[in-house]
Amino acid sequence: MPRETALVTGASRGIGRATALRLLAAYDIIAVARSASELESLKEEIEIGGGVCRTIPLDIADEKGVGTALRGLEVDVLVNNAGVATMKPFLELTSAEWHRMVDVNFNSLYYVTHALIGGMVERKRGFVVTIGSLAGRNTFVGGSCYAATKHAVNGFSESLMLEVRDAGVRVAVVMPGSVATDLTPSSGDQSWKLTSNQIADSVWYLVTQPASVLVSRIEVRPARAKGPR
Ligand SMILES: NC(=O)c1ccc[n+]([C@@H]2O[C@H](COP(=O)([O-])OP(=O)(O)OC[C@H]3O[C@@H](n4cnc5c(N)ncnc54)[C@H](OP(=O)(O)O)[C@@H]3O)[C@@H](O)[C@H]2O)c1
Repeated sequence: MPRETALVTGASRGIGRATALRLLAAYDIIAVARSASELESLKEEIEIGGGVCRTIPLDIADEKGVGTALRGLEVDVLVNNAGVATMKPFLELTSAEWHRMVDVNFNSLYYVTHALIGGMVERKRGFVVTIGSLAGRNTFVGGSCYAATKHAVNGFSESLMLEVRDAGVRVAVVMPGSVATDLTPSSGDQSWKLTSNQIADSVWYLVTQPASVLVSRIEVRPARAKGPR
């Protein structure tokens, strides 16, 4: 029986990288991000750990590029993780910053998921995990676009879940609170935050449930909130 395959977007660093490393025990990894060199270092790390990794340097906001690179790949687990965040008051947010967040955090979900989920439905099995955020439930100053994209992630994920579950494809969203990564500039003590590995554990939990069980949403937050969320 060939090993199953997991494709992780935003695998070059942060939560995506940790997720790729967490999944390598059970899956061959396809690692997607723009930074070819960081993907190569992940591939080396996975291979040292005895795993298999293929890298696909790709801007997931490029619809044509995504179609060319991903359509037709046989993927058992898709982790839609890549994301960007510019937290600014709306009046200071540029049009480019707005469109970048919408393109990477939301529109790419169509490009990437659409390229892969047809095959899952045909094979009658598969799992789509999207990394949302507690910002998908909360609102905050500086979050007019970021929080909106993460609210949209929930609408996407939960509607898709209802559409494809009878076809044997499970869909779930993981909604982390603050995680210590490079997503936004931060200074001072970060030790109260969650780690990328802890979010990777949530993804592992989802995909290791029995096929008859669908945990469709996980909210995970630091036990002690010293930050804004
Ligand atoms: N950190 C937090 O507190 C937190 C909390 C809740 C949810 N999240 C969510 O968790 C996810 C991962 O964030 P993170 O904290 O791990 O951030 P991160 O360390 O900045 O990593 C972001 C990843 O996304 C990739 N990426 C960004 N733009 C891309 C594009 N156009 N095409 C392909 N890949 C792209 C980056 O790779 P390249 O730059 O190499 O392309 C990188 O691998 C995001 O969806 C974020 O919204 C984070």
